[in-house]
Amino acid sequence: MIFDPTHDTVLKDEAVECLITDPAGTYVDGTYGRGGHSRAILSRLGPEGRLVGFDRDAEAAQDAARLAKQDSRFSFVNAAFSGWGDALVSHGVTEPVHGVMFDLGVSSPQLDQAERGFSFRFDGPLDMRMDQSSGPSAADWLAVADEEEIREVLFRLGEERFARRIAARIVARREEKPLTRTSDLVDCVVAAIPRRDPNKHPATRTFQAIRLYINQELDQIGAALEQTLGHLRPGGRLVVISFHSLEDRIVKRFIRDHSTPGKDFFGNPVGPTALKKVGKAIRADAAETASNPRARSAIMRAAERMA
Ligand SMILES: C[S@@+](CC[C@H](N)C(=O)[O-])C[C@H]1O[C@@H](n2cnc3c(N)ncnc32)[C@H](O)[C@@H]1O
Repeated sequence: MIFDPTHDTVLKDEAVECLITDPAGTYVDGTYGRGGHSRAILSRLGPEGRLVGFDRDAEAAQDAARLAKQDSRFSFVNAAFSGWGDALVSHGVTEPVHGVMFDLGVSSPQLDQAERGFSFRFDGPLDMRMDQSSGPSAADWLAVADEEEIREVLFRLGEERFARRIAARIVARREEKPLTRTSDLVDCVVAAIPRRDPNKHPATRTFQAIRLYINQELDQIGAALEQTLGHLRPGGRLVVISFHSLEDRIVKRFIRDHSTPGKDFFGNPVGPTALKKVGKAIRADAAETASNPRARSAIMRAAERMA
């Protein structure tokens, strides 16, 4: 039997409330996961409303196939969200949409299944791919990457201050025996770092960095945000929930850059801008963070497409 825990959807009501401006509109959930946001969106759409989900994970696709059978307003694309707008056109949705949302990162089922290799808490194959049908796994990459490349990834994507020591340890270890298990990577980190933060597992930053790198997550976000400019109709909403500062910085800058008018020679604003910021950044309240610790780091930002 497949171990398939559920995913505790973060900022569900807040995201859906902000996203939907017309119950008869067409919407996109770029990160289907286990359909927490998708089901909430469908519950607020009327009979003419339409929702297209995206996810590059095969188990998310299985869950989405069940939902598509139950609700004809929903369809699903098993692909990366970076090209969501172009993919819609090739799936027959040729008009710009009323809203698109992204709930970034990994789902609880991905994290909690040892076989996916995302977690330092469980021993499993060192995989970390959201789409296991393509690209190198973490083990494949760590077997061939230069020490300097590993150091750079750990430093840039994990903000790991012991990046140099950890990279050196990984390279020394793979000369004896390849790293194939999550526990091999944890052992390298633990052996490399001189002191431990009592509040954080020592491999937290290393796992985050390698996961972001293997799945090219930051590039995916940048590309997906760019697609909103061509595929969101005037008045349509973009809603993004991020879980760490590297993701949030990209979203914040994108919204700021496209909602700030340029200046002419005299310093007067020259418009129009492509986007307008909607409200302030929102965080989960105390009740949600008490029941779902993952919500603690969540931050939601939204913008509206201008005419
Ligand atoms: C935090 S979960 C979403 C959970 C979902 N909102 C729910 O309530 O069930 C993120 C999901 O996005 C998917 N994902 C992350 N990056 C992706 C990308 N670039 N393209 C497509 N799917 C992606 C992951 O596979 C994962 O299933």
